[in-house]
Amino acid sequence: MSAPQLLAPPPSDRSAPEAGPPPVARPAARGFSIGPVRMDSPFVLAPLAGVSDSPFRRLAREQGASAVYTEMVSSDGLVRGSQATLEYCAFDPVERPIGIQVFGSDPQIMADAARVLSDLPPERRPDMIDINMGCPVRKVVNRCAGAALLQDVPRIAAIVETMARATSLPVTAKVRLGWDGQTQNVVEVCRTLERAGAQAVAIHARTRSEKFGGSAHWEMIAEAKRAVGIPIIGNGDVRDADDAVRMLAMTGCDGVMLGRAAFGDPWVFRRIRALIECGKPLPPPTASERLEAGVRHLAMLVESVGSEHAAREMRKHVAWYIKGLPNSARVREQVNHARTAVELTELLRVYLHDLELRGLESFTPDATALPTETPRASG
Ligand SMILES: Cc1cc2nc3c(=O)[nH]c(=O)nc-3n(C[C@H](O)[C@H](O)[C@H](O)COP(=O)(O)O)c2cc1C
Repeated sequence: MSAPQLLAPPPSDRSAPEAGPPPVARPAARGFSIGPVRMDSPFVLAPLAGVSDSPFRRLAREQGASAVYTEMVSSDGLVRGSQATLEYCAFDPVERPIGIQVFGSDPQIMADAARVLSDLPPERRPDMIDINMGCPVRKVVNRCAGAALLQDVPRIAAIVETMARATSLPVTAKVRLGWDGQTQNVVEVCRTLERAGAQAVAIHARTRSEKFGGSAHWEMIAEAKRAVGIPIIGNGDVRDADDAVRMLAMTGCDGVMLGRAAFGDPWVFRRIRALIECGKPLPPPTASERLEAGVRHLAMLVESVGSEHAAREMRKHVAWYIKGLPNSARVREQVNHARTAVELTELLRVYLHDLELRGLESFTPDATALPTETPRASG
């Protein structure tokens, strides 16, 4: 992609309502830096447990995401040298810049985990280490990790200070607005993070008690941005290109992080960049682009986890890739019974062939609402 230009106003600029607050300033589509790590645009893929696997991250980078994150991995697992945990940390060089997200609550263990990651051989070493301070699930918060850290600001400071001393990689954090409506301390948390040595903060603009419900409160991203000097990455409810542009304009944030909007749609990054760099909306991907991506995603997954595991892991991805296409419900049912990658690939090829016979290979489903998945472990 060409170097990002100053943003031309989007064709249907939802940031300029007819009445009410004055129009927001036009945002810049410049990239941003986290310490020495340069992102060539503001738009990054969120850490997504069970979803942001290495093949999916590769597809997102190909389509213009400027950075990606692994799903959260356990600091205990890293320190114990757990093979399963280290497998979650594996990535392909084309995914760079990449952050490995770590969860935990003990400053010393978190620092040891940071050391484990920084001591990996250069080709396996991430570009950044991100700390999960937003996961709402009970299993995590009961261990004082994830969003529970937001209730213990001194512990946040201790974790970041010890980690920053233990590694020369940039340490960042992903937070929520606070624990609940009564304790929205995101500004205090961001100031603490900055003082302790964090080099960027991503803010999912909901409290822990809101989980994924209601609308994200973007105005709090703007408030946090005004309070600190380190880059702020806004997150929550960015559904498509218009929203991404609007979040930049409304909050002044440096980066925009997308999660659910990218499910089955890594092209969302391409659409955002086209809108922001050229002022032109791009059409959504066609049926054949979607199915070809599904086949490639599966092939890459087979390389890392083997045929049977890949076939199981791909079920949700395929369901998202084919969502809204003709006969997708029937195909999804078949996909859920496919036991090997060969069977699944064949199903996708037959489906594409069937659509081609009916002249539907260029079919584009309507834009849909954000998927409301129940995350296995999420922030
Ligand atoms: C299935 C799923 C898994 C998630 N896993 C993580 C995770 O591992 N770490 C994290 O910080 N956030 C995780 N999240 C939260 C997302 O990164 C993001 O903050 C949230 O989905 C809001 O952004 P969105 O509206 O763009 O989806 C997860 C969310 C979902 C839906």
